Amino acid sequence: MCGIVGYVGEKQALQVVVDGLRRMEYRGYDSAGVAVVCDDELETRKKAGKLANLETLLGSDPLPQSTIGIGHTRWATHGGPTDANAHPHVSEDGKVAVIHNGIIENFAELRSELTANGVTLSSETDTEVVAHLLAAVLPTVGMDLAEAMRVVCRRLSGAFTLVAVHSDIPDVVVGARRNSPLVVGRGDGENFLASDVAAFVAHTRQATELGQDQVVELRRDSITVTDFDGRPAEVNDYEVTWDASAAEKGGYETFMAKEIYEQPKAVSDTLLGRVDANGRLHLDEMRLTENDLRSIDKVVVIACGTAYHAGLVAKYALEHWTRVPCEVELASEFRYRDPVVGHRTLVVAISQSGETMDTLMALRYAREQGAKVLAICNTQGSTIPRESDAVLYTHAGPEVAVASTKAFLTQIVATYLVALYVAQVRGNKFGDEIQAVVRDLNDMPQKIDLVLDTTEEVKALAQELKDVKSVLFIGRHVGYPVALEGALKLKELAYMHAEGFAAGELKHGPIALLEDGVPVICIVPPPSGRSILHEKIVSNIQEVRARGARTIVIAEEGDDVAAQYADHLVRIPAAPTLLQPLVATVPLQVFAEAMATAKGLDVDQPRNLAKSVTVE
Ligand code: AGP
Repeated sequence: MCGIVGYVGEKQALQVVVDGLRRMEYRGYDSAGVAVVCDDELETRKKAGKLANLETLLGSDPLPQSTIGIGHTRWATHGGPTDANAHPHVSEDGKVAVIHNGIIENFAELRSELTANGVTLSSETDTEVVAHLLAAVLPTVGMDLAEAMRVVCRRLSGAFTLVAVHSDIPDVVVGARRNSPLVVGRGDGENFLASDVAAFVAHTRQATELGQDQVVELRRDSITVTDFDGRPAEVNDYEVTWDASAAEKGGYETFMAKEIYEQPKAVSDTLLGRVDANGRLHLDEMRLTENDLRSIDKVVVIACGTAYHAGLVAKYALEHWTRVPCEVELASEFRYRDPVVGHRTLVVAISQSGETMDTLMALRYAREQGAKVLAICNTQGSTIPRESDAVLYTHAGPEVAVASTKAFLTQIVATYLVALYVAQVRGNKFGDEIQAVVRDLNDMPQKIDLVLDTTEEVKALAQELKDVKSVLFIGRHVGYPVALEGALKLKELAYMHAEGFAAGELKHGPIALLEDGVPVICIVPPPSGRSILHEKIVSNIQEVRARGARTIVIAEEGDDVAAQYADHLVRIPAAPTLLQPLVATVPLQVFAEAMATAKGLDVDQPRNLAKSVTVE
């Protein structure tokens, strides 16, 4: 996905736009570019690589002063990360500049049409066709940029957020969205457009979420929103609940480090206000009636990446507490496997960004099949909650680092709240049983804090292991998705082979990977829980040690049985079996972040990745 910013107002547009891009660089950083309109001239500067490269270019080849501008950071889809493919893209007459997030699926036929009409295209991108189409349409609609955008959007298929300016229309920025995020920042004598409120929250917290197939015309003192046919559109105004400082590093070296240390607060904020003094849950905000919840006969979780791992953790608790069958599906696979989904299925779409296209398309499919969809999301006003029947927001605050950390823990907490609420409504759990779990959940922020106090040994271990070629992770029960998440963190941050296994699966093949010195990180369940789980994982640890593995054992305080088979022992506070992921995951996050740091890699913006993947 890409980062998009538009501005019209009284300030110097370039500064506003570049600052906004910096706050959204996590959305994509293959190239960056800006365009401003000044004295009926359109000026653009764009550069492959990170935003810093563009800023260097702007230093040596400055733009004129202007109070209207647009900017873009790119995660390449069509065409490599080159200067020519960087946005903005400009029409042949040099008057229209366009930036885009998404994929225009019919761009090939549009390119052919333009070429046949004598237009010379200068990039490999799908986006460029929009600049030329707008230039061609404008004279036919009285140079009305918003109307030209509507005409062009009606010809496009795929997912797109588009923002455009025109040199001869110096006080208007026009945007359009289909299946890709675009939010308006409402200021005083100034207005903003962005993919994410982080781009303008330093200027205003008043926001307006745009809906599907809408076009917005922005002037410094007016905002006009229509559908693609020009009819006035309903929009949803809201106030952003966090401030710009929350999106800054706050003294940490990296956003990821900050967000790891914010986890105790993120968990407590996600619990806040959802359980009363008697331990009863109140989730009316979900807009699912008690009848809805009594009538479900299956839960299907759809998600990607880390969110998928949160779903895998949730499955154990949800089935244990509610006795409702729960399937967990990779969103990108779900709708293509002809799943059995109906009106008694509750589909839970877990997404930090609320914009992941794989998850969005899966939830649309589920709704077409008659299922109710509950979104668990960390981004207010994003597409996935807007297209769901219900939403339970995690309150992790903005998660800027591409590698997800606090969102993961809060997704687990949110799914636990939903599971407990279903058990409460359906009567599977007595009030005192639910109270006991809620008390344990309320203890977790403090336990996470304790883990964060002992990160030095994990960081030292990462330094010691920074040249290993591969790390394996094993776990049982809820420790298995934790192993998967630990492996994903190491892959995406340290660019190394890492693989998570269900510990019981090792003997069915993967154990052949072992040889002297291979690090195996073992997540050990509480001995006081299902004792058989503990016994089995201790056997698995002995199996891997017998084959030369270097065992890094994550075990709770006082577990001396597992400790005796540890080459490196990482202690975590005791926690109930189902809640252990909330503490066991933290050392793995710290390990991966420290490994990336030891290898001199970019922790917040790992190569090839983007914070939210808004293409399928
Ligand atoms: C996690 O570290 C990754 N950045 C990625 O797997 C992410 O969890 C996945 O793309 C889903 O994103 P979402 O939660 O915003 O839908």
